[in-house]
Amino acid sequence: MKIMFYDTKPYDKIWFQPMGQDMGFQMKFQEVKLNEDTAVLAKNYDAVCIFVNDDAGKNTIRILKELNIHTILLRCAGFNNVDLKAAQEAGIQVLRVPSYSPEAVAEYAMGLILAANRKIHRAYVRTRDFNYNINGLMGIDLVGKTAGVIGTGKIGQMMIDILKGFKMKILAYDPYPIESLEVEYVDLDTLFERADVISLHCPLTKDTRHIINKRSISKMKDGVILVNTSRGALINTSDLIDALIRQKFTGVGLDVYEEEDEYFFEDKSDDIIRDEDLVRLTSFRNVILTSHQAFFTKDAMEAIARVTLENAKAVEEGRELKNIVLP
Ligand code: NAI
Repeated sequence: MKIMFYDTKPYDKIWFQPMGQDMGFQMKFQEVKLNEDTAVLAKNYDAVCIFVNDDAGKNTIRILKELNIHTILLRCAGFNNVDLKAAQEAGIQVLRVPSYSPEAVAEYAMGLILAANRKIHRAYVRTRDFNYNINGLMGIDLVGKTAGVIGTGKIGQMMIDILKGFKMKILAYDPYPIESLEVEYVDLDTLFERADVISLHCPLTKDTRHIINKRSISKMKDGVILVNTSRGALINTSDLIDALIRQKFTGVGLDVYEEEDEYFFEDKSDDIIRDEDLVRLTSFRNVILTSHQAFFTKDAMEAIARVTLENAKAVEEGRELKNIVLP
């Protein structure tokens, strides 16, 4: 199989190149993202391999079909950037990596909670400037406080385990609760009302888009800590900014951002940033914004490459596609 990789960085090749060669794939690595303008680069290939911010919408799929591409290999878990219905109609199968390292994401989410609570990011900057004053860096003990976990899938469950280690009370919300999970499921409003710390671990769907909005924020306790390592559009950014201005939050940790496509994973340090919400978010001292890196561990990258290429092998050999994504 000939696979065209889009939106690749040097770190993608570390595992994909040797593993893919061993498995007999012909691969080419493009830096550009997949969209309707760049789809043509996959001419004479069988499959495209894409990541979270590639655009596999209806128009892109139409061009991929014209090029006889039969497979889209997502090297990530989320698939909100693929028009699954259009892919199905075009006869293009979509495969993903449903789980590579839930630990990596949950550990990172906990890192954001700890940093937001104890202002570690601010302390780091201060001591670099030989400022050893600790005014404004006070946090709270997490032990005995209440954490709200939205989405109790693989990452949410790992998060619950970590939070239990901190001896926090845990509330969870998921429309598909898991009976065997030792956690108190509550409705969303109750979670918003009672949690001191809220961590989002649900996928982006039409039901979860802007699940954090003016209304839900108004239900939350003053001084709550909010962490989003899932997808940016779970949060209505302008409602979040309004609440930050009103000093609603002790801290907010964002590894994802609603309009991240143009910025995240790229060095924009010499550019004028035209996204005013992004600049505004970055300006709040109590917001830690990172560039979609929660997944980024050696273990996760190795697993992503292995499962993506195993998915491709299963297609090539006509085997059962256990990681297929259907509309
Ligand atoms: P998963 O599929 O195992 O779990 C998702 C859970 O969310 C399921 O239990 C599902 O029932 C629940 N859910 C569905 N609709 C919901 C709703 N309306 N409200 C609350 N919960 C709902 O997925 P996993 O592996 O735990 O990943 C969760 C999300 O994390 C992914 O969808 C992806 O967006 C994000 N992610 C972010 C990464 C990063 O680097 N920042 C890396 C990997 C995943």
